[in-house]
Amino acid sequence: METHFIRKSEFDWLSKANGVAVQIKEANYLQDASNYNLFMSLVKSRSNEKDLNCRIVVVDKLGFVVADSSGTVLNKTIMNSQVFSALSKKDKAEKAPDQPIMTAAVSVVDKNDKNKILGAVILSANIEDIYTSLDKMKSQVYLLSLVASLFTGLISFITSSFITKPLKALMKFVQRITTGQLDQKVDVVGKDEIAELGNAFNHMAEQLQRVEQSRQEFVSNVSHELKTPLSSIKVLTESLIFEENVPVEMYQEFFQDINSEVDRLNNIISDLLTLVRLDQREIPMNITNVDLTEMTQNILKRLVPLAKKKEIKLIYESHKDITAEIDEVKFTLALSNLIENAIKYTPNGGEVKVIVQSDVQDAFVTIQDTGIGISKKEQSKIFERFYRTDKTRNRETGGTGLGLAITYKTVVMHNGSIQVESEEGEGSTFIVQVPLRHAWKGALR
Ligand SMILES: Nc1ncnc2c1ncn2[C@@H]1O[C@H](COP(=O)(O)OP(=O)(O)OP(=O)(O)O)[C@@H](O)[C@H]1O
Ligand SMILES: [Mg+2]
Repeated sequence: METHFIRKSEFDWLSKANGVAVQIKEANYLQDASNYNLFMSLVKSRSNEKDLNCRIVVVDKLGFVVADSSGTVLNKTIMNSQVFSALSKKDKAEKAPDQPIMTAAVSVVDKNDKNKILGAVILSANIEDIYTSLDKMKSQVYLLSLVASLFTGLISFITSSFITKPLKALMKFVQRITTGQLDQKVDVVGKDEIAELGNAFNHMAEQLQRVEQSRQEFVSNVSHELKTPLSSIKVLTESLIFEENVPVEMYQEFFQDINSEVDRLNNIISDLLTLVRLDQREIPMNITNVDLTEMTQNILKRLVPLAKKKEIKLIYESHKDITAEIDEVKFTLALSNLIENAIKYTPNGGEVKVIVQSDVQDAFVTIQDTGIGISKKEQSKIFERFYRTDKTRNRETGGTGLGLAITYKTVVMHNGSIQVESEEGEGSTFIVQVPLRHAWKGALR
């Protein structure tokens, strides 16, 4: 800015000096000495003019001072580089190196021959005002940048608190979840990314709560299931211990009951162990090519006595041999559970039909019974652990509610699915779908 102002001032003072030079040229003062007094008063008055207000020195072509508004160098010779330049027709204005003074030197030519130089006019002016206004501007710029940075600081403080406030709330939420307080919810405001994050956190908390709830339910179910046979054993043994003169028949009867309760405990525990192992994938899948039709027939053969006891007609149907890549032991257990259920939940004299079919991709095993059926509401729940539609009656039939959970888990491990169709009082149909070719999942291989 300083350079710019100085340049401009050089230009100004050159043109002012030119103005004076032209006046002197027109009045022919440098050649006609008769008007010397007029010349002097012109120099004096011009130097005092408001728009000039400077010192004016006029030299002849040899550098001899013929007029000086301050009168100090009159009749002396000045020959510095600037005057020398002006006398060679190279007009020039420049600022003194260490002072705020501008000097402009221009040539004065002959009125009739502009190539003939008669002398030069030198204007020296104080240009302190340039520096005063520069200083003023400087302090204004400082003030402005101070205000601007304060303003930016304030704005960024406000916006950052907008962002950090919800993040801090989320952080607190996560910390509470980590300490086990799962019934948390973050307040979600707006629709931005942070709000989405908040929604995701809420969803996660709900999911965690659900998992925790089903874990607690499972534990309480297990304890309940184990407690019931144990308390019957306790009652039976105590009555034998505290009763006097117990007849042998009674001993035998009670011990049979105790024995069946122990069997029941055993069953529950082995079912639970199977489920846990399936959960943890502890038992590796032993996939081989299995003749599904032969396998199903073997299961049915084993269940014939059970069906006979209830006079239930067992029907098997298949039109071709079907082989599938499955784990024979696990799949046998899965199908047995379904067929045992069909027999168990069908009243005496009913019918259980097992159909094995396939298309190009999948095998389908259908188990159809004419039993008690399952209400629509309960159809989705029967695969849960310990779920039984009628707790008291099923206790009599000896069920624990783990059979279908095991079946479901096994079928899923085979990348298959189970479908239920049922009408209460009319019967149920379970359809198991399993791919003929096993899709290996990295971890199972
Ligand atoms: N074919 C069926 N007909 C009617 N109800 C059924 C049938 N299969 C299952 N259910 C219902 O689903 C519940 C769960 O079956 P699941 O096989 O898991 O348990 P369970 O048979 O009671 O005991 P277990 O663990 O000994 O098999 C049963 O208690 C029964 O109420
Ligand atoms: Mg069962």
